Amino acid sequence: MKKAKRMNAFSSSIFAELSAYCQKRRHLHDEWIDLSVGSPDLPPAPFVREAIARYAEEPNAYGYTLKGIREFHEAVADYYRTTHGVVLNPETEVTYVIGSQDGLVHLPMVFADPGDVILVPDPGYPAYATGVAMAEAEPYFMPLKEENGFLPDLRAIPEEIAKRAAIMFLNFPGNPVPALATESFYREVVEFAKRYDVLVVSDFAYGELYYDGNRNKPVSFLSVPGAKDVGVEMNSLSKSYNMAGCRIGYLCGNADVIREFAAFKSNLDYGIFWPIQKAAAEVLRYGGDFCAESRAIYQSRRNALVSGLADIGWTVDCPPAGMFVWAKIPVGFTSLSFTKELIDRAGVVVTPGHAFGPSGEGYVRIALVQPEDTLRRAVEKLRTSGLFERLAADQR
Ligand SMILES: Cc1ncc(COP(=O)(O)O)c(C=O)c1O
Repeated sequence: MKKAKRMNAFSSSIFAELSAYCQKRRHLHDEWIDLSVGSPDLPPAPFVREAIARYAEEPNAYGYTLKGIREFHEAVADYYRTTHGVVLNPETEVTYVIGSQDGLVHLPMVFADPGDVILVPDPGYPAYATGVAMAEAEPYFMPLKEENGFLPDLRAIPEEIAKRAAIMFLNFPGNPVPALATESFYREVVEFAKRYDVLVVSDFAYGELYYDGNRNKPVSFLSVPGAKDVGVEMNSLSKSYNMAGCRIGYLCGNADVIREFAAFKSNLDYGIFWPIQKAAAEVLRYGGDFCAESRAIYQSRRNALVSGLADIGWTVDCPPAGMFVWAKIPVGFTSLSFTKELIDRAGVVVTPGHAFGPSGEGYVRIALVQPEDTLRRAVEKLRTSGLFERLAADQR
């Protein structure tokens, strides 16, 4: 079998590597606690499950849906108006994606030529780099540094790179870094995009997950003046409504971008199962209370984990939003060696930061995807492993 050269750009995922490592170590622990993959562990709202079951009973539900159905588009537009004060034309400024992964990896093929530069956050969600590779474009990593509030420093992007840039990916609140963008940062982004003619793609997958009240409510990129002239937002129902396996999301914003992207997608797939679109429309309209409950659950998990880790001597930043704790690791380790240490000593699996880009070194990502008592048990396992006691003793 011949393997295409382009496959060299696609490496195996860190999760496959971690799983193989844990498999070899399985004799070490009776209980394993996996905080690596960011897949929600909670079920969708009962009314969503009921809606899918009800619509799936309809004999006419099984045809190709081609473009997104009108109700779904209208529900997206209404959701953006009520949640973010953004006005969208449901016909021209919204299109479906089969989860945002589908959108993110395919979008560069539509808007970047081979050799164009695509600006990606570093550390960042790996799908951006996959999209860059699929378009045979060139990534330029924008470091997210603690001293800049984990926002990219647009002034640090060299002029010749900015001139060659076709797309900029942004992701706030982000994966793996759960930082929030400010409105003034997004205004700078709009200015930058206009100056260099760059398409901005804001990945807003975690837009509904924020803590400590409305002061941490994430800003939609599209709510900033001029944003729709230069960009789009990719949004997903996976994390907000625990529908990750029920693949549906959407791209919204600039009508020209939506038109071109939808034209491309019409060559790739034939739409999303009708019952899923119908249920998605319902949850976008009536899912506000469900999101508030999810926020309360994740907030308690976050508090339990962050305070538990502090008690055993591992002080980590308390995330204002998102699904992850982005934890700085103790000196003397790489993110991979520390991850292995946690696996070997405690049976707790996290994701090493280097898997998200060069600036992820020095951190691990801990996903809040287990119930609160499991997170407390993970902390207990870390405590009894003696690792942090030993590190504290070494420092004395
Ligand atoms: C930042 C970010 N964007 C997009 C996705 C893809 O999600 P989905 O394709 O389920 O919408 C994920 C999934 O983990 C993510 O973390």
